[in-house]
Amino acid sequence: MRISCSANEDMTKKVLIGGGSGLVGSRLTDLLMNKGYSVSHLSRSKESKSWVDAIHWDVEKHKLNPKDIEGFDIVINLAGAGIADEPWSDKRKKVIRDSRVNSNLLLRDTLEQLRVKPSFFVSASAIGFYGLQTTNHLFSEDDPAGSDFLAKTCIEWESSADEMTKLGIPTAKVRIGLVLSDEGGALAEMEKPFRWGVGAPLGNGKQGMPWIHIDDLCGIFIHLIENKMTGVYNGVSPNGVNNRHFSREFAEVLNRKMILPAVPGFMIKLMMGDRADLVLKGSLISSRKIQEANYEFEYPVLKEALYDLYDYS
Ligand SMILES: NC(=O)c1ccc[n+]([C@@H]2O[C@H](COP(=O)([O-])OP(=O)(O)OC[C@H]3O[C@@H](n4cnc5c(N)ncnc54)[C@H](OP(=O)(O)O)[C@@H]3O)[C@@H](O)[C@H]2O)c1
Repeated sequence: MRISCSANEDMTKKVLIGGGSGLVGSRLTDLLMNKGYSVSHLSRSKESKSWVDAIHWDVEKHKLNPKDIEGFDIVINLAGAGIADEPWSDKRKKVIRDSRVNSNLLLRDTLEQLRVKPSFFVSASAIGFYGLQTTNHLFSEDDPAGSDFLAKTCIEWESSADEMTKLGIPTAKVRIGLVLSDEGGALAEMEKPFRWGVGAPLGNGKQGMPWIHIDDLCGIFIHLIENKMTGVYNGVSPNGVNNRHFSREFAEVLNRKMILPAVPGFMIKLMMGDRADLVLKGSLISSRKIQEANYEFEYPVLKEALYDLYDYS
């Protein structure tokens, strides 16, 4: 069933979100609908688990019926298999890469067949573009890509998004940082040890954590589509912190004491293998470009963002 918030359907902008059932997509859907947009999702699942129309696509088999996606004004693609969910075997790396790149290419090939195309496309990307490394450099959109697996994936991911411009569809990409939400994602995983009183910094604690409150990330997507801003933008807050700082503030917001020493890096490597770099390495990322494009952050300060998500008093 389609839920439409506007009394005048003709005036309602129709948004299609690939991977809209996920953490970011769900919140973005709510915020768009609150603003009067009509939203549908593209999903691998035939049974809609969404509260909006879910149109079926099969990214693996490269199948999407062009008729099903006629009439959308804006297309956003957030689809992607979880980065941290499983060990990075060669097979898993392929799933991580293909779910992102091939979903954008499937959208391109399908939109190419439409007489009337959407007027704007936005693709997720990630700050992994810059490479997993701990440095004192503040990375901006002009910095070159890294060379590790995630960086190479992001390069291909962004190139596949740029294919839309060949169809004449203005395109934006958002290099997303660590999304803070109380509904899931990395913060929900970090919360457990802190709740149990065993939360601690990870490794040397100096690695940057370029976080963003989920509402600001969705706010950036909306800002881009409403202002038709093309190009690439970092989706991070203006005040990134290191892991030690983050851990201290998180413990405080959860009203827990941080009594244990940092978890040694080798233990994290034993538990996470290749994926350990996701939590042991990181640099800070600049939000200047999106701020200079007049996006005003609702939660620029970490403690305020965490209190918004975790203050149940
Ligand atoms: N959350 C973060 O901290 C973060 C940070 C950096 C970048 N990002 C990027 O932002 C995007 C959205 O993030 P999220 O946290 O909302 O992710 P999420 O909760 O994992 O949702 C992603 C959606 O992608 C679809 N999907 C999963 N595996 C797929 C596959 N193999 N092929 C095609 N579609 C697949 C799923 O939708 P269906 O099951 O309905 O098909 C899923 O709901 C992702 O691309 C992610 O890499 C997120």
